[in-house]
Amino acid sequence: MTKPLRKAVLPVAGLGTRFLPATKATAKEMLPVVDKPLIQYAIEEARAAGIEQFCMVTGRGKTALVEHFDVAYELERTLKERNKSEALEALKATQVEPGSIVTVRQQVPLGLGHAIWCARAFIGDDPFAILLPDDLVLSETPCLRQLADAYRDTGGNVVAVTEVPREQTNRYGILRIGKDDGRLVEVTGLVEKPEPKDAPSNLSIIGRYVLMPEVIGHLSKMERGAGNEVQLTDGMAKLIGNQPFYGLRYEGRRFDCGDKVGFLEAQIAFALKRPDLADAVRGFLKTYV
Ligand code: G1P
Repeated sequence: MTKPLRKAVLPVAGLGTRFLPATKATAKEMLPVVDKPLIQYAIEEARAAGIEQFCMVTGRGKTALVEHFDVAYELERTLKERNKSEALEALKATQVEPGSIVTVRQQVPLGLGHAIWCARAFIGDDPFAILLPDDLVLSETPCLRQLADAYRDTGGNVVAVTEVPREQTNRYGILRIGKDDGRLVEVTGLVEKPEPKDAPSNLSIIGRYVLMPEVIGHLSKMERGAGNEVQLTDGMAKLIGNQPFYGLRYEGRRFDCGDKVGFLEAQIAFALKRPDLADAVRGFLKTYV
């Protein structure tokens, strides 16, 4: 029997330098796509996958992320007094079970692997999900739900994967692949950001993972990898051979919201899915293209 998946880690300590000056005084994960901040998409996706406990790995200047999921008592009272029921409704989605979000600080930016290691006390002996809020996925079934189902069926580590153009392998964690049924891929190796000529495939990891707690032991060695950072990919690679490890070609479209073009594309794609906005957006888009 596989242990139920109830925990998620959200690494949110990054500086967001690519979005300066917008991110000077606020966290990049607070940037909205249409009207919801990236962090909220991540939390909602995780909840839809059955996650009940969250750990945000934060850093300096990231308090807005914690505030966002708190009860805004004065705001709610004002909205009630003014009969703003729609606005009150919008706030509801930011309310989580008391005590379900904890934070730890990553004091020094030593890499994604180090950020996950910072959550080790939260993870304990349980399987856990990781969501990188920069990666936004538009899909019928929430992306992490798809991974959680694959985890239940395989009982092992599962990462969300997608094909990328060869020349882009140096931006991602890349899989070496074994058996492949078109959807689920057996992972036989993992390399972080290989140059196209060294890449074992063009199947890349996106920011959704279900991992076994043993990865922490490997990360704790603090070995430096690509970019002289402690890479999650390197820690995961050490699990291969000892535990089942799969890549899942998820159904859906991924937007890299850490990149300006990806972020703008996400605005349009998500707005076009909104019944209250789609027609207006489609209308004005025609005047630009
Ligand atoms: C991180 C991971 C990489 C993964 C990517 C997905 O890279 O290290 O393996 O493919 O996220 O977005 P980063 O985007 O932090 O450079």
